[in-house]
Amino acid sequence: MKKLLFILVFSLLLASCKNNKEPYEGISLHPEVAVKTHPGKKLMETHCYVCHAPDGVGRDNRIAPPMAMVQSHYIKEGTTKEQFTKDFLSFLEQPTEAKAKMPGAIRNFGLMPYQKFPEGVLEEIADYLYENNPLDEIPRGMKGQRKQQRMGQNDPTKTTLEQKAEIGLEYALETKQLLGQNLMGAIQKEGTLHALEFCNIEAIPLTAQMEEKHGAAIKRVSDKNRNPNNAANKEERYYINYFQEQIAQGKDPKPIVLPEGDKSRFYYPIVTNSMCLQCHGKPEKIDIRVLKQIKTLYPEDLATGYEENEVRGVWSILF
Ligand code: HEC
Ligand code: HEC
Repeated sequence: MKKLLFILVFSLLLASCKNNKEPYEGISLHPEVAVKTHPGKKLMETHCYVCHAPDGVGRDNRIAPPMAMVQSHYIKEGTTKEQFTKDFLSFLEQPTEAKAKMPGAIRNFGLMPYQKFPEGVLEEIADYLYENNPLDEIPRGMKGQRKQQRMGQNDPTKTTLEQKAEIGLEYALETKQLLGQNLMGAIQKEGTLHALEFCNIEAIPLTAQMEEKHGAAIKRVSDKNRNPNNAANKEERYYINYFQEQIAQGKDPKPIVLPEGDKSRFYYPIVTNSMCLQCHGKPEKIDIRVLKQIKTLYPEDLATGYEENEVRGVWSILF
């Protein structure tokens, strides 16, 4: 299927080069070639993604390994389609530890519960999985972004989306710099205890200053917030989770841009470094006077217990 598509696309490209046309014109003349989706894809989304959410989707508690990981355990270099299909079906028709290829997953999640799937479903999914990367699946809520990335340069909306991500990032990083410089200055000059009061009094006005400068609504929000005004809403928590997974996997998280009315909502993670731990680290590692003062200023504080390189929250910016 992939090969066929490649040949088709390639010959279309060649043809169009000869005619000196726009290189992708040929494809849009034959949308059925480019757009046709494998039935196994839909079946997998319906029957498997309840548990095997594709890599990258933010989930509080994973209940099974992402499908891409399953695929990589079943298809190694040189695995034939017949071998793969046989092993895959054999496990799914009667899951046992003896047949499993993912002992680690069994330890984490327990053996996959046996389920009866409709006739032909597993065969279609096997056919799809052998030739396709489930990471091409686009997590809900990120559709716009990932689609833009894949459409390539010929799509004029790509630049606007990319530009929006850049604008958001600029606002976030500039605000971060302003807060960071002031915070570091306060710590160096007068110690953490004083800096704490600085954060308490200055964090919001400094952010407001940047909002005014850029005409944007700039928030720092967290699922474990210190200031009650900085509590993440449902969507923000979703993206905090998403970024947590990205960072745990050692990936470099990309900003998220979503339409919101006629504006854009921008998300980008706020990640801890060693400095933050003076006020957000494990309670036993925070200076006792600082800890006491945190409790006095923020009786409902949730923002301790972090280590380095963890997602402390997100920038949530509307512009
Ligand atoms: C109710 C949750 C659930 C659903 C639905 C589900 N799985 Fe699983 N699956 C699991 C869990 C948990 C594991 C990890 C434990 C294991 O490996 O047995 C797993 C593991 C697997 C494995 C690897 C088994 C191994 O260890 O070698 C394959 C292959 C698999 N699933 C395929 C599928 C397919 C295909 C579908 C959809 C048709 C599906 N699963 C639907 C829960 C589920
Ligand atoms: C000197 C103590 C101190 C240090 C160091 C510190 N913070 Fe904070 N942080 C605070 C206080 C106090 C607040 C609450 C500010 C407010 O009331 O608006 C806060 C709030 C936040 C918030 C907003 C969400 C919330 O929980 O209210 C984020 C995000 C945040 N800090 C991230 C960081 C990061 C990342 C670092 C390290 C780069 C850091 N902080 C270092 C004291 C500190």
